[in-house]
Amino acid sequence: AQAVSAESVAAAPHAVPAVAPRETTILFGSQTGNGSGLAKKLAKRLQEQQVKVEVMSMADFKPNNLKKLEDLLIIVSTHGEGEPPDNAIAFHEFLHSKRAPKLDQLRYSVLALGDTSYEFFCQTGKDMDARLQELGASRLADRVDCDVDFDEPAGEWMKAVSEALSATPAAAASAADAAAPLSADPDSEYSRTNPFQAEVLENINLNGRGSARETRHLELSLEDSGLVYEPGDSLGVYPENHPRLVDEIIEEMGWNPEEIVPTGKNASASLREALHRYYEITVLTKPLLEQVAKLSGNEKLIKLTDPAAANELRAYLGENDLLDLVRDFELKGIAAAELTGVLRKIPARLYSIASSPKATPDEVHLTVRTVRYACGGRDRYGVCSVQMAERLEPGDRVPVFVQHNPNFKLPVNPDTPIIMIGPGTGVAPFRSFIAEREETDARGKSWLFFGDQHFSTDFLYQTEWQRWLKDGVLTKMDVAFSRDSDEKVYVQHRMLENSKELYEWIDGGAAVYVCGDEKNMAHDVHTTLETIIAQGGGLSPEQASEYLLRMQQEKRYQRDVY
Ligand code: 2AM
Repeated sequence: AQAVSAESVAAAPHAVPAVAPRETTILFGSQTGNGSGLAKKLAKRLQEQQVKVEVMSMADFKPNNLKKLEDLLIIVSTHGEGEPPDNAIAFHEFLHSKRAPKLDQLRYSVLALGDTSYEFFCQTGKDMDARLQELGASRLADRVDCDVDFDEPAGEWMKAVSEALSATPAAAASAADAAAPLSADPDSEYSRTNPFQAEVLENINLNGRGSARETRHLELSLEDSGLVYEPGDSLGVYPENHPRLVDEIIEEMGWNPEEIVPTGKNASASLREALHRYYEITVLTKPLLEQVAKLSGNEKLIKLTDPAAANELRAYLGENDLLDLVRDFELKGIAAAELTGVLRKIPARLYSIASSPKATPDEVHLTVRTVRYACGGRDRYGVCSVQMAERLEPGDRVPVFVQHNPNFKLPVNPDTPIIMIGPGTGVAPFRSFIAEREETDARGKSWLFFGDQHFSTDFLYQTEWQRWLKDGVLTKMDVAFSRDSDEKVYVQHRMLENSKELYEWIDGGAAVYVCGDEKNMAHDVHTTLETIIAQGGGLSPEQASEYLLRMQQEKRYQRDVY
C-alpha cells in the first residue's frame, strides 16, 4: 500500500538531442512519511522540466541495479541513535557492505532529514553521502542537512539538483521556482506550513482514578478542512508553550514582555506571544548552545560547547531547557530579539491517528499520554501533552495537519490477517485499523497485543475492544499488565506464550504491526519475533533475522515507533 508508486515519464525528444536522455532515480527512506512526500514533490518538479524520473522507496529498490543508475537523488531521514529508518535498513546495509559495486558512472545528491536535538544529526544521510563518494560516484549538488523545520532547506536542495539536472534553458527557468513552499496534500489547502485550526470536540482522560498515568482521548473536527487521512497516518499538532515557563524566562532575563520581536520572515509579535506560540523553549540543541556561547561570550558556556566536553554537553542538553540555560550561564544582558533570533521554530508533534475516517467522518481522534516529570528540582512538562491535558477544552481550536505515512498501512487485501502489537498509546493506530475493518466488513483475522501498568485503571479503550471481540471484528486479544503481579509481564511475554499460533499466522501470510516505544518495547518485540520465527520455522538466528528483514521489505512487518 505504498502511496508513492514507481512513476516515469519519458523525456521530450528535443531535450537532449543525439544522446539518449539520462535517467534520474529518486530513492526515499523515512519513518514518518516526510521523505516520501518530498520525493513525490521533487519527482513532479523534475518531470515538469522534462527530466526522466523514477521514484521509489529504498525498500523497493533492488541494490543490484545500483551500478545501472545514472543520476541518483537520495532523500533519507535518521532515526534514534543515528540509525536508518526501517525502509532504508537493507539499502544502507548493502551500500556499506563489500558487495557494493564501484560507482564511477553515477552522479548523485543527498537530502538528509533530521533533528539537531539528536546527537547523531542526519547521520544516515551523512553515511550514504560519504559512502557513495567512496565508491567513486560524483556529487551533482552538495548534501543538505535539514533540521525539523525542513521546508526551506529542502526547497533549496531541490532547486540545486533541478538546476544541475536540467539540460535546457527552458528547464533551468522552471527550476527557479523550485524553492516555493512545499504543500503536502492536493486535497486540501491545509498542510504542515498552513495548518488547519481544528475544533476540539471531546477531551477525556482514559485512565481510571488512582492510575499513575494520564492518557487523553481527543476528538477534533476536520469539518470543511478538506483534510483526508487513512488508518496508519499521523496528525501533526502545533503546541503552545506553558505560559508559566514563558513568564519565568522573561522575568529571569529582565525583558519587557510587550517588546515586539520578529517571528519568521515578515512577521512579528510581542515577546510573550512569540515565546508562547512561535519559538521552541523546552528543547536545547548543540547549534543553539554554540550560538548563545558566541552571543554571550560566557566562558563557561564556551567551554561546554568545546568538542573536548562532548559528554558534558550531551548530559546538559538531555536535562535542561531555556530557563535552565539563562539561569546557569547568567545570560542577562542579551537582547530579546538577539536570543529569539537563534531559537528554533516550535516543531509540530506527530500523533498516530486513533480513528477511522469511515467510522467517524470529519473527525480525527488522538490518544495522548501526558508527560510530567521532575528534573533538576523543577517540574517538567511535555509541551503538547500537558497543553492537551490542562489547557484545551471543547470549543477551543488547535493548528493541525495530516502527515501521511505510507510505511504503516493496512494490507491492501482485506482478507489478510493482521497481528497488532501496541502497548500504551501504541494502541492508537490499531483502534483506527479495527474501526476501519469493521466499517468495510473486512474478513481478515486480527490479533491485538496490548499492555500497560494496571488492568483496572490503564486498559485503554477496554469496552471498545471487548465489543469488537464479541462481534468478531477482532479475532483475538492478549493483554499484559506489567504491575499487577510481582513479576513484570510485557506484551512480548504474551507473544512467547502464543509462539506456535503466532508463527502459524505469520507463516500463513499475516502482516505484523508494532506501534509505541521504540527504545525498549519495539526492540524487545523485534527480538521476540525473531525467536518465534526461528522456533516455528526451525531456522537459525541468522535465518530468522533475514526472514524478518524480508517481511519488512515486503511491508508485512511495519512499525510506527517513537
Ligand atoms: P512498566 O512501565 O511497568 O515497565 C506501556 O507503557 C507498557 O509498556 C507498560 O506496562 C510498561 O511497563 C511496558 N513496558 C516497559 N518497558 C517495556 C519493554 N521493554 N517491553 C515491553 N513493554 C514494556
